[in-house]
Parts: sequence; structure tokens; C-alpha cells
Amino acid sequence: MSLRVLTGIKPTGVPHLGNYVGAIRPAVAASADHGVESFFFLADYHALISTQDPGRVQRSTLEIAASWLACGLDPARVAFYRQSDVPETTELTWLLSCVAGKGLLNRAHAYKAAVDRNRAEGGDDDAGVTAGLYMYPVLMAADILLFNAHRVPVGRDQVQHIEMARDFAQRFNHLYGEHFTLPEAAIEEQVATLPGLDGRKMSKSYDNVIPLFAPRAELRRLVFSIVTDSRAPGEPKETEGSALFQLYQAFAGAEETGRMRAAFEEGIAWGEAKERLFERIDAELAPLRERYDALVADPGGIERILREGGERLRDVHARPFLARLRHAVGLRDLSLRDAGDARSDAGAAPAPPVFKQYREADGRFHFKLVDGDRVLLQGEGFESPRDCGRAVAVLKSGTVAPRIDGAGRAWLDDVAVGSLGAGVDPDALLAALARLAGEAE
Ligand code: TRP
Repeated sequence: MSLRVLTGIKPTGVPHLGNYVGAIRPAVAASADHGVESFFFLADYHALISTQDPGRVQRSTLEIAASWLACGLDPARVAFYRQSDVPETTELTWLLSCVAGKGLLNRAHAYKAAVDRNRAEGGDDDAGVTAGLYMYPVLMAADILLFNAHRVPVGRDQVQHIEMARDFAQRFNHLYGEHFTLPEAAIEEQVATLPGLDGRKMSKSYDNVIPLFAPRAELRRLVFSIVTDSRAPGEPKETEGSALFQLYQAFAGAEETGRMRAAFEEGIAWGEAKERLFERIDAELAPLRERYDALVADPGGIERILREGGERLRDVHARPFLARLRHAVGLRDLSLRDAGDARSDAGAAPAPPVFKQYREADGRFHFKLVDGDRVLLQGEGFESPRDCGRAVAVLKSGTVAPRIDGAGRAWLDDVAVGSLGAGVDPDALLAALARLAGEAE
């Protein structure tokens, strides 16, 4: 399986140049790598924790989605979706809540910060704290574990959440079998932090940002408001510690940067340096801004892209995976034979379902999955025993659940591998496969 990298973006506010240089541009570049399966989603369930203004959630979701698309994220290559379009996320949040230690959640930074603020003000510890804020790490763990992501690129402030996701996954796996991959945080150490207009880190909380898609005139005005020292034209200028120079470097190649460095030494006037910086930034952003404006002007188009992304993921991953997890915890079809797992006290376990492989008179290689005398899945005829064996191995391993279409055919990616036996419910098949995968461990 290829490396799965998952990134969640909370839709609050509009992105600025710091977000672009530090997060959007590198993530879009990395998503084009081969051998990487990228998942990008708009964490709109998370947005409800920090804002209760419905219009703001909607607007921000549109603007952030348009920003990522305008910056080159290709929804045909990566999974691009909206969290709330995959409601299995909330069901998984509950399953994880039931293994998550409350004590661990007490130690989450965001919650602790709220408690500290309350204490400093002499109020009740939990004044103004919603259960949503408290549960934030569990919802985030569900985002990650739902797709068994291997790697989650995050800033330092989010590392604790990834640790918690690992903890919940481990507890769940320990109780119910190996269902979850333990995710790893990829900490963005070397990510450029861009200075803002006043030289401090560009951040909304310092009110020193340049919005990513500010119109050209506004961009120019903001660039000209960058703080510089008072050296006159002709006086050599320091590149070290110059916000203007650092901004230039974030947009220019090595050669251009070298020329700017020389111009600093030669005493370029600040006005001239600002003009060059403005033109350099605008050269990169103007085409993106044009795409952004077009995207925002057609919200229906973005709505379609997001919905399609979400639906595909539900079909291929989320629905079958949740069927397996439901079975694992005991939310089961009552007519199924007792799975006889370790926790069952129903006496001797009945024999597990088995795969049988054989060759038919047509010369092709077949398999079937049988539970007692019931055929759960009748395999396709394969040309070679290897292909047949491989399909069986994948189904048995439990790493990918087959997708069952409306006609009862089972698919692995875009290969039809078999059909449901007569009267067999898709969930019964997924449950039988989950049981086999659990036993193989
Ligand atoms: N908590 C993240 C943030 O505030 C956003 C987020 C939600 C996220 N779910 C995620 C990030 C899953 C990575 C993976 O930035």
C-alpha cells in the first residue's frame, strides 16, 4: 500500500501569505509525488467548535476550498473533500470516545488553556467550555483513523493530537483486533515562517498579514507598508533580520535572491526594493488570484467537486470500514452466527468462514467464501491461479475492504472480484471478512 498522507484544514478566516508559503504551497507540491496517496479535507465539523456563526462557516469553507484549488491542488489526483460529507467520521468519533481515556482528554492543550484562563479569572474551571472543545482530539483522531493515514503533516501545536490518536487506536486494536494503523506526525520543522508587515511572524493574531488573494492594488499598498529601518537611498542595507528581504526570498529563486542581496549591499532605496518585492509576489500570485476569483464566482462547481470527493471516499473506504468496525465492537446483524471471538461466552466457537479455490471446466480459476454451507461470495473466474490467489489474499488480509455495488458485485479498486451469494447482505460479507482478518493476527 502506498504512503497515505492526510491533512485537515479548519475553515476559519481567509488564508494569508504565511499560510501559503508555510503550508499550502509545500503541501500541494508534495501531493504531486508518486507513491503518495494524499487526503485533504475541510474540517468543518471542527469549525463548529470555534464559531457558531453559520454564515461564517459556509463562507469560509467556500473560500478555503477555492484557495487550495486555485493553488493547484488537483482533485483528480488527491482525495479532496469536506469532513461533514463523510458522516462516518462522527460514528467513528463515538466508537473512539468509548475507548478514549477522559484523563487523557483533560490534558489536551486547548482544553487546558481554557481551564487556565478560567482559573486566572477566578471562574469555574469549565465555564464556557463546550463538550465539543473537550472532544476535539477524538474528532481529529476519527479523521485520521477513518482512512488509516500513515502520516499527518502538522505544526508543533498539533503533535499532541496525533499522539492521542495513536493512543485511541492502540486501545481499540488491543480490545477488538488490528483495525487501525498508528499514524505518525510529520512535524514541519523547516517550514518557512514568514514575517508579517511589522517583522513579527505573519499571523492573524498580530494583525500583520497580507491576505493571499488581495487584489493587486491592495497587495501593493500592503507591501509598501512593510516596516523597514531609516537608511537612506545609497546607504548599504542589512539583509539579516529584514522582513522585506525574507519575504522576497520566499518567492524568488536563488539567482534572483542573490541579485537582491547585491542590491541591498549597493544601497537600493527602500521604495525601489518594495516595488521589486511587490512585482515578484504578484508575478506568482496573479494567475492563482485569477483562478481563485473564478472559483469563488461558481460556488456550485466547488460544491460538486467536494461532494464527488466525499462520495468516492465513502464508497471505497468509509462505509465498508465502518461496517467492519461495527461488527468488531458487537454492533452486529443478529442473524449472523456468533463470531465466537475471545470475548464471547457462547461456548465453543463455530468454524470460521473459509475461502476455497478451484479450477472449473472452463479452465479458469475460481474461489468462493463459504460460511458453513452458505456461499457468502462467489469469485470471478481468473485467468491465472496467481491472480485468483492474490484476490483471495487481499480479501483475507482485511487491509482493504471490497466495495459492494448495487448489483451485489464486489470490487477491489476497479477490479470486480466476485458477487454476493444469494440472499447475502453486504454487511454480512464485510463482517465475515473482518472476522477472518481478525483471526489471521
Ligand atoms: N486541528 C487541525 C488544525 O487546527 C485541523 C484538523 C482537523 C486536522 N482534523 C485533522 C489536521 C486531522 C490533521 C488531521 O489545524
